[in-house]
Amino acid sequence: KYFQNRTGLKEMSQRLEKALGIRKVILSPVVNPEDQTAAQKELGKAAAHYLKKLIHNDSIIGITGGTTVQSVIDSFRHEKDHLPGAMILPARGGVGNRAELQANTLVERFANMLGCQYKLLFSPDILSKDAISSLKNEPEIKALMALIKNITVLLFGIGDAMTMATRRGLNQEEIGIINSRDAVAEAFGHYFNREGEIVYEISTIGISLEQFKTIENPVAVAGGLGKKDAIVSICKLHPGLILVTDEVVAKAILNDT
Ligand code: F6P
Repeated sequence: KYFQNRTGLKEMSQRLEKALGIRKVILSPVVNPEDQTAAQKELGKAAAHYLKKLIHNDSIIGITGGTTVQSVIDSFRHEKDHLPGAMILPARGGVGNRAELQANTLVERFANMLGCQYKLLFSPDILSKDAISSLKNEPEIKALMALIKNITVLLFGIGDAMTMATRRGLNQEEIGIINSRDAVAEAFGHYFNREGEIVYEISTIGISLEQFKTIENPVAVAGGLGKKDAIVSICKLHPGLILVTDEVVAKAILNDT
């Protein structure tokens, strides 16, 4: 039996904040745990609702790709905010070949909804070290990297490490490294073990772990039981984290602690 009323969710989110040691937990209701699509939609709605309060005209908003971030942005569709002073940027290079899931595509859609400025990052998610160092000298990339350093709100997805390694098409050697180092989570191109220690990082242009740790409003959005361990791991990275997840995951984490 799951809680579906606001009071139940609120109380559960406060318990989870304490258990995870993070700033805030926002929980979305799950009416039918079998229906992943509906659950992700609810998650998106809950995150969009909270983000609306967090974003201002002077915000520099970084976003990652993925289906969950996409569902957050879809939920903004009916909002009528106009924030001409705000700026949206992709926090990392793109992933895979499903264009609609790439951060760039989401940045453009989100910026059009909010009537704000945006920047795109045209770089593959995986690059050689040499390619990265020469790209970092390009004036446009330099300007974007400077903006990334000043991100005030980061909306990002969390993935299960193996699922993401496969989605990104990592090679056998890289998958071997991730496996042998017990990676459970992936976020913004970094792989982490259960303790939230970084075990692998894919080479690309974008936000670094050090920069992530200084962000004032990091908002993680991830749901579904398959991401439970990944979510717990990412919560160890930043005490100021705002986690938007669903009640099924919340219950499972609380049962473990
Ligand atoms: O690829 C971008 C990204 O945000 C990853 O960092 C994250 O692991 C993944 O997407 C989450 O994807 P989804 O929301 O589709 O599960």
